Amino acid sequence: MTPESHSLTDTDDPMSGPPPGCPAHGTGPGGLRRLYGPEAQDLAGLYEKLRAEHGAVAPVLLHNDVRFWMVLGHGENLHMVSNPAIYTRDSRVWTALLDGTAGADHPLMPLIAWQPICSHAEGDEHLRLRGAVMGAMSTINPRDLRRYINHWTEQLVNKFCERGTADLVSQFAEHLPMAALCEILGMPEEYDDRLVQTTRDLLKGTDTAIASNEYVMSILMRLTLRRRAEPADDFTSYLINHPAGLTDDEVGQHLRLVLLAAYEATANLLANVLRVVLTDPGFRAQLNGGQMTVPQAVEQSLWDEPPFSAVLGYFAKQDTELGGQRIRKGDGLFLGIAPGNIDPQVRPDLKANMRGNRSHLAFGGGPHECPGQDIGRAIADTGVDALLKRLPDVQLAVEEDELRWTASISSRHLVELPVVFDPASPQDIMRRPGVNTVTRPRPDSDKAVAVPRPTLEPRPEAPESEAGTPEPVRGPSAWQRFLRWWRGY
Ligand code: HEM
Repeated sequence: MTPESHSLTDTDDPMSGPPPGCPAHGTGPGGLRRLYGPEAQDLAGLYEKLRAEHGAVAPVLLHNDVRFWMVLGHGENLHMVSNPAIYTRDSRVWTALLDGTAGADHPLMPLIAWQPICSHAEGDEHLRLRGAVMGAMSTINPRDLRRYINHWTEQLVNKFCERGTADLVSQFAEHLPMAALCEILGMPEEYDDRLVQTTRDLLKGTDTAIASNEYVMSILMRLTLRRRAEPADDFTSYLINHPAGLTDDEVGQHLRLVLLAAYEATANLLANVLRVVLTDPGFRAQLNGGQMTVPQAVEQSLWDEPPFSAVLGYFAKQDTELGGQRIRKGDGLFLGIAPGNIDPQVRPDLKANMRGNRSHLAFGGGPHECPGQDIGRAIADTGVDALLKRLPDVQLAVEEDELRWTASISSRHLVELPVVFDPASPQDIMRRPGVNTVTRPRPDSDKAVAVPRPTLEPRPEAPESEAGTPEPVRGPSAWQRFLRWWRGY
């Protein structure tokens, strides 16, 4: 590979272009492409160049020209995440870390550095930590979750409905998941603009990210101590009281993991689905004609614009081979979700309808597969559905090609989604429904949660936003209804 010339005069004059090794050159040492600098402005284009040059697994350079692998093939990504005997998420075995090539000050270290959380654990420790998270998740009552999402959609729409214009990213997609998560975790009173903004700041890794992290952690540790002393009927209390016996520190770290992973991914998913609904005439026509459910639109979006585009990272525990490349013990590899989802081996025609097909990589796979995917889908499905019911004539206020995204290696975020609609009066929201938790194992969770059930005042049944369509009290279990509802059949 020849380094690309960025010289305006296209001569070999070293003074007329960036010096060798400068990130302004597309390639670095060994002719490898960089996942940072100018060429990485178009990551999708870069992935296709890598696929053409190297096949399903490509060597790349991270900041400071540290070597890594980008897994581009769908099957190769699945193979990697499904083989914990060969690949681990524990970065402490990463050669670049052990030999100092990637120091503690490496810009991607916040994403890579090992932490005592289930994402980085393996074996029995992973089972212990993940079991507690899944056990606590299994207590979330899906019907109440859905009702709460409807309620918050009404609240958020009330704030802008009289104006006839809104930005659905900053006024809706960035808020709804946080409101839902605060309720799930058991701290509805903490949901406000400040928590949304500090969480966004933390995720962006700006100069103030450390202070933002401290603010978010202080809220989560306060919640942990409060619930340790006095359990309530929420995710945090069940996490604390799970037989896995998490320490306060472990509880706080897992609340942070859940809050951050869930918030960013779900906010991206909501914005992406709304964009598709607003810009793709086929989607809109089909939605109106009743041929396509919102959950199907969500699934298509999970293929085309996965909320996390790549996960950093997996690490080889032994010498091995992947996609024809020789991987050495201690090498680091990206779980390439966005490139894997458009691998021509599984999607020869990118325009083909993938709505009934859930084999995308958006939630990862193997032992670390996202345990919160049903909640993420529920927030997106219900939120989009409820918004379209309130603003049935909502339209994009700008040309589609004026929309802008910010992108990092790990995710792509729509900056704004300006819309117009007929101004409407705010709806009267009588009560704030809570999310009740129930002691019930889900089919994919390990155990029921043996938690002393706190004594709660009976909560009033809040009205559904779809007035006049109360859900049946008897019939299939809440879990079966939830499955049926989010699958769309
Ligand atoms: C659209 C929404 C979401 C997407 C796209 C998403 C995606 C992902 C991905 C790609 C992973 C890493 C998988 C791997 O390492 O192989 C992950 C892990 C995880 N997610 Fe999600 N997620 C979403 C929503 C949520 C929600 C709502 C929660 C919790 C309420 C959650 C909790 C977690 C946790 C705890 C892990 C770590 C699991 C482990 O390492 O064992 N996620 N998620």
